Amino acid sequence: MHAIDFAAAFRKIVRKGGCNYVAVFFLTACLSPAISAPTTAATDIEIAVQLADLLRSARTVIASKQNMINKPSTGDKGLTGAIVTREALAIFHKRSSGPISFDDPNALSDRLLRAQIAAIGEVVDENQSTINRPGIGFKGFVPAVFARLVNERFKDKVGLYAEIKVTAPMELVRNRKARPDHWERENIRNKLMSPDWRKGELFSAVAKKLRRKAFRVLVPKYYGKNCLSCHGGPKGEMDITGYPKEGVKAGSLAGAISITLYRP
Ligand code: HEC
Repeated sequence: MHAIDFAAAFRKIVRKGGCNYVAVFFLTACLSPAISAPTTAATDIEIAVQLADLLRSARTVIASKQNMINKPSTGDKGLTGAIVTREALAIFHKRSSGPISFDDPNALSDRLLRAQIAAIGEVVDENQSTINRPGIGFKGFVPAVFARLVNERFKDKVGLYAEIKVTAPMELVRNRKARPDHWERENIRNKLMSPDWRKGELFSAVAKKLRRKAFRVLVPKYYGKNCLSCHGGPKGEMDITGYPKEGVKAGSLAGAISITLYRP
């Protein structure tokens, strides 16, 4: 789905430690002593990248099942929350440098990842009647919708500590709920869309959200060829989901996974 498995590469870089490596991503922490030490920041960014990675992995599973989901002749597809969760974790493990280690049940990272895994399973289980509806083709259970439902459920569970949202530049937003807030809009435009921004590189900063102090991360998403049936040309023509196509080209910025980790 993404040309560069940036997250996995990044984790390796973070593990190597050292401000020089981390600096590109976390310039402020390296330059300003007022902001917490890079070690804390690296942990935060690792958590954020893991959450983004797991969301992408679950989306990949739902994308790969579209033909199955949309087959009118089969009723029960057997596509349960447990199966999607297991496949998502397998993809996550393959893409990242190893399995998630739940070694500290009290750690924030464990709690957040567990909440996300539970959210993935619940959303699939709760949509069984849609997925299994016989006699109709396209069900509308597309990866973008699935991801939004997972993120909403994640917020219900752990919204006090963290939030995940898929957002996009204003002109590409389809669902109002995906609209970028001020911080997202500014940084998508000025960082991720700037001509000298290295493709795939994420942006992170300590920034307020809803008046709360937070560590915020934007992981860019780019359109691939497989996105163009809905988001490509001709611009304005309806796609299968009933939205007008945006007329974008493969490789251009589609949006970002925006992760917020609230600071105590
Ligand atoms: C089957 C049609 C379809 C395909 C294929 C598709 N999308 Fe979408 N996309 C949608 C729909 C529908 C929404 C709105 C989802 C919602 O209601 O939250 C959406 C929303 C999004 C959003 C969130 C912003 C918003 O407007 O709500 C992004 C980012 C996005 N798509 C990127 C992609 C990328 C990248 C790909 C390819 C990997 C892709 N899409 C493939 C239909 C599609």
